[in-house]
Amino acid sequence: MVCLGNICRSPLAEGILAAKCEHLPVVVDSAGTSAHHIGEGPDHRSVHIATINGIDIGDQRARKLMKSDLEDFDLIFAMDSANYNNILKLASTDEDREKVKLILNESSPGQNKAVPDPYYGGDQGFENVFNLLDEACELVKNQLEKEFDV
Ligand code: 4NP
Repeated sequence: MVCLGNICRSPLAEGILAAKCEHLPVVVDSAGTSAHHIGEGPDHRSVHIATINGIDIGDQRARKLMKSDLEDFDLIFAMDSANYNNILKLASTDEDREKVKLILNESSPGQNKAVPDPYYGGDQGFENVFNLLDEACELVKNQLEKEFDV
């Protein structure tokens, strides 16, 4: 799960998908395309919306996406097209490029919608982000269950 700062959207995406996939043999992680917030915990507004939905993301720490992530992970979900394009810059093979997807194309196929950056807004923006990611992650989980025959 990849956004810009790895403090607002992608920590929520990581927490939501990990909670849905506890019964599956998958590793869920997140990272940012920028280095601005490396080492920081998630934004308190992300922690809050996760908590009231029963998900603890407080122990996550921001890190920057690395070239090796493109090799190590099978699926890479970008929160918006700017991040999508920056992720692709780290990919060196067609196999790596094919792993990179826009997360909201799971719930709105082909529409290339962005998970809006909630950083400069209020709590409402974080609730919206949570709901968008919850819907998309539910569909990702369904696909993974099929893939693992669970
Ligand atoms: P994120 O949100 O990419 O969802 O973590 C942001 C966090 C920080 C900034 C921008 C977006 N920033 O400009 O510092």
